Amino acid sequence: MFAALISFVLLVRVVPVAAYPPSSPQETYLAHAQTGPSLNVSLCPGYTVVSKRQTDRGLVVQLSLAGPACNAFGHDILNLTVEVTYETSSRLHINIYDSARTQFTIPQDVISPSTGEDDPSLKDRSDLEFHYNSNPFEFWISRRWDPDGEPLFDTRARSLPPTPLPPVLPHDNSTALDGFPLVFEDQYLQLTSALPLGANIYGLGEVLASSGFRRDVGTDGGAGTIQTMWSVGTSDPIDENTYGSHPMYMEHRYDPKTSAQSRTASFTLGMDATSSCVFLPRTPPDIANLPL
Ligand SMILES: *[C@@H]1O[C@H](CO)[C@@H](O)[C@H](O)[C@H]1NC(C)=O
Ligand SMILES: *[C@@H]1O[C@H](CO)[C@@H](O)[C@H](O)[C@H]1NC(C)=O
Ligand SMILES: *[C@@H]1O[C@H](CO)[C@@H](O)[C@H](O)[C@H]1NC(C)=O
Repeated sequence: MFAALISFVLLVRVVPVAAYPPSSPQETYLAHAQTGPSLNVSLCPGYTVVSKRQTDRGLVVQLSLAGPACNAFGHDILNLTVEVTYETSSRLHINIYDSARTQFTIPQDVISPSTGEDDPSLKDRSDLEFHYNSNPFEFWISRRWDPDGEPLFDTRARSLPPTPLPPVLPHDNSTALDGFPLVFEDQYLQLTSALPLGANIYGLGEVLASSGFRRDVGTDGGAGTIQTMWSVGTSDPIDENTYGSHPMYMEHRYDPKTSAQSRTASFTLGMDATSSCVFLPRTPPDIANLPL
């Protein structure tokens, strides 16, 4: 069970530019141009499951927006596809994309991910298990031998702190954590997972982090981390974005149940590598003992 939780919020933001994707409806642009983005995800409706289909190697779930679009930092995408693939006994691949496939994804001839084994029995014997709730859609991943243990990845609202949380940077309202629904917009993605207190997070380069390789998650006296992953042509400032960005992280978790062995979970975030922010906020005192 979680003794305590902190939230980990991954935000991908693209600065609005003139060229919106041509596939979105003209009216949306016009409405948007008049009102501007709300810059607030508290009214974002999340997604609901409309259908699901078992495949040989996993599951495909179709989602649709669960209410009126919030257009927080872009335009909400109506239909999403969640592809769950059991690739090996220790690797589970979850791919969430816009069903119409109008959003940019890195072409497979640039980076071809390993496809894994073509083994239908993995669904029933893989070490990792995918679980989800339908309305709103939220998912969590557990170890098969420890289904009631602390999930390795957990987007359920009940596992996350109550919102709104005040802006991480007091002068910048766009750093407020107004809600943790799944947000999938043409210029913004939000997916939130609960972590154990004092999580060991590595990666999210490229940065010269004052905390060292292990990123500051706001415990042990740290202030938390805000990182812009938007490449800029500067060499090596401390705790600032620099000339490269590598949107992946690794969480290393100690598991007392496995006789002091450490276990590693790694997540690769396939996103536009030029423009994103990551927040690892300090644990607010009132959520320090939130029960799961
Ligand atoms: C979303 O999916 C529904 C079917 O579930 C379809 O009728 C609708 O046209 C789709 N909308 C968009 C914008 O792709
Ligand atoms: C976002 O909206 C909610 C109400 O829906 C409000 O409580 C919150 O303060 C807003 N956030 C900001 C940064 O203004
Ligand atoms: C931030 O949001 C609060 C609450 O909505 C508002 O009172 C304040 O003026 C906003 N500050 C800025 C800098 O926009």
